[in-house]
Amino acid sequence: MGLEFPNPVGVAAGLDKNGEYIEVLAALGFGFIEVGTVTPRPQAGNSKPRLFRLPQANAIINRMGFNNHGIDKLMMNVADADYDGILGINIGKNFDTPVEKAVDDYLACLRKAYRRAGYVVINISSPNTPHLRQLQNAGELDHLLYVLKLNQQKLADEHGKYTPIAVKIAPDLEPPQIDSIAALLMKHRLDGVIATNTTLSRTGVETLDQGGEAGGLSGAPLAQRATAVIRRLHSRLQGALPIIGVGGIMSAEDAREKIVAGAILVQVYSGLIYRGPRLVREVAQTLCADADNSSADLK
Ligand SMILES: Cc1cc2nc3c(=O)[nH]c(=O)nc-3n(C[C@H](O)[C@H](O)[C@H](O)COP(=O)(O)O)c2cc1C
Repeated sequence: MGLEFPNPVGVAAGLDKNGEYIEVLAALGFGFIEVGTVTPRPQAGNSKPRLFRLPQANAIINRMGFNNHGIDKLMMNVADADYDGILGINIGKNFDTPVEKAVDDYLACLRKAYRRAGYVVINISSPNTPHLRQLQNAGELDHLLYVLKLNQQKLADEHGKYTPIAVKIAPDLEPPQIDSIAALLMKHRLDGVIATNTTLSRTGVETLDQGGEAGGLSGAPLAQRATAVIRRLHSRLQGALPIIGVGGIMSAEDAREKIVAGAILVQVYSGLIYRGPRLVREVAQTLCADADNSSADLK
């Protein structure tokens, strides 16, 4: 993406939706921070309860529904934060914007986030906003990426700064869908891809209390599914753009699997909830040591 990361472990989107805890997250040792998902207008999200811990499975089910204070408030919080590290701003559409008009919402957020963001993420994979995942279909995605890239160019000229754009995809895609997304990411020269968001699958939690709650499942039961998507993406992209691996990283070994599958950076959310902040340094130290060893091998 043209960025240099102090370490390859980031906090995944959804933990700090409004950019209220940027300094705190930086102090935990994250190499980059992704805030959002943020929408053009503030919205309350789904009614509570909407977040369920499944501790026996090291998993979480959530159907938050993009509760957030809107892009203007997010950008004020970002301006107030004493942080000069890499900040990703993850953007989405309001729940009441028809999916045919989704591009307007992404553009409104892209314009406001562009100058300050280290990178911008187009979230088309949350399962909790009706029809959002439709934007992963080839026709819709082709159009969306075309418009976003056109505007990225305009904004780059206007601000004299190039802000990379990444796309965040779902784990519930069939291999041909992954291939078609990969082809479009290359066609439009996207700067990165984040794989993956939460899953609709309930494999591994069917029998648990609250395992049947509606929403997206994250944490340990997502790990293999997310890794499979990364592996497939990597086989198609062949390094044309970087993959940020996320989904069920609960240990350094889990993170290593994402790197082996083809990711160059990783993010955590559920792992932070169950393992606590020690996970951040554990993963960062292991991946940095692996990278040092492999560059030593090359010499
Ligand atoms: C409570 C909760 C809220 C989330 N909100 C968002 C969000 O707003 N935008 C987004 O792109 N991903 C969101 N995610 C998905 C995470 O960023 C991540 O992709 C997913 O949880 C898989 O990683 P994990 O297994 O380490 O949690 C959310 C996840 C959780 C658990």
